Amino acid sequence: MTPQDPTAHPQGWPRGPGSDAAAALRVRRCSVDAILDLRHAVLRAGRPRATAHFDGDDLPTTWHVGAFRGDRAVGCMSLFQCGHDALDGTAWQLRGMAVADDARREGIASAVLAHGLQGQDASTWWCNARVSAVPFYATHGWTLASDRFDIPGVGPHHRMRGPS
Ligand SMILES: CC(C)(COP(=O)(O)OP(=O)(O)OC[C@H]1O[C@@H](n2cnc3c(N)ncnc32)[C@H](O)[C@@H]1OP(=O)(O)O)[C@@H](O)C(=O)NCCC(=O)NCCS
Repeated sequence: MTPQDPTAHPQGWPRGPGSDAAAALRVRRCSVDAILDLRHAVLRAGRPRATAHFDGDDLPTTWHVGAFRGDRAVGCMSLFQCGHDALDGTAWQLRGMAVADDARREGIASAVLAHGLQGQDASTWWCNARVSAVPFYATHGWTLASDRFDIPGVGPHHRMRGPS
């Protein structure tokens, strides 16, 4: 993967009703430290901060993408090079997709996803999607790849695959 222009999103994300806040959004590759607080607040709320660390966070093959308003991270995701039974060759697991409570439905997750995907083959991507997040991924052409299953301490999920 190669870094791309963080402001160029062919899908037109982020979007918003002409809001200055949306215009000030910057999406870029970042360190895990830059997004850990957001990951913790959104995905591991009420649990120890260490639970927001994922295995592989510090590997050189792992990519972290953040959306920032000034110094504040408002959106994030991470990509882990990770095998998958149903995928030949290199596969990428998307984890830690999160947007701050007060910044939802502004296209931020879409912008983060688009930043990671530019020039990449989305069919090699997969994730374990929270049931509540399935409509978001479906909007971007992802499809269900499993029945519903439970991740203890997190909740019900479906495995999903990126669009072919
Ligand atoms: C899921 C999540 C990342 C989406 O972030 P977001 O920035 O609000 O998403 P976007 O604004 O880019 O949404 C794009 C489209 O996805 C769909 N979508 C997003 N959230 C949705 C929801 N809660 N219900 C139904 N559709 C949704 C909509 O079609 C939306 O377009 P619209 O707003 O014009 O209708 C965010 O709600 C979140 O952080 N949730 C809690 C953590 C989580 O579940 N993370 C995913 C773990 S697998």
